[in-house]
Amino acid sequence: MTPPDSPPQSRREFLQVLETLALPLLCPGIGALAAAGCVPAAVVAPAASGGRLTVAKRDLGSASFALVEAPGLAYPVYLQRHENGTYTAVLTRCMHQGCQVAPEGGRLVCPCHGSEYTTSGIVIKGPTPAPLISYPVTEDADRVYIHLDGKVPTV
Ligand code: FES
Repeated sequence: MTPPDSPPQSRREFLQVLETLALPLLCPGIGALAAAGCVPAAVVAPAASGGRLTVAKRDLGSASFALVEAPGLAYPVYLQRHENGTYTAVLTRCMHQGCQVAPEGGRLVCPCHGSEYTTSGIVIKGPTPAPLISYPVTEDADRVYIHLDGKVPTV
């Protein structure tokens, strides 16, 4: 892999560099959290237009989840590919006081006060008063579409 201080040679290498750079952000104190199940996530820069993010499935590779950078949003979107093949997408802003949640042991965990959510954004443990903001997701053979405007087109 290209070292982070060298210019990336391709889109895939660019994404790998982003993943490497994002690791400390996703897993602060990685030594301790690695033991607790903190998992690095792929960071994906999608195409965006009309309130919709488009993620190429090939960018996810074999990963079951990714953080999707969303233009105009202060927090990335957590995209989960579930075992049954469906997808969910949630904003990584904790609904307690706004810290960024991170994937950890099959959950999304807030580093500030310990709230926990399922990967679909449902509250497992407080103090959060509400589930994560979720977005409708649709897909075709090659792409996943995250509908930030909440509108799912009818076919
Ligand atoms: Fe997430 Fe407080 S900000 S638990």
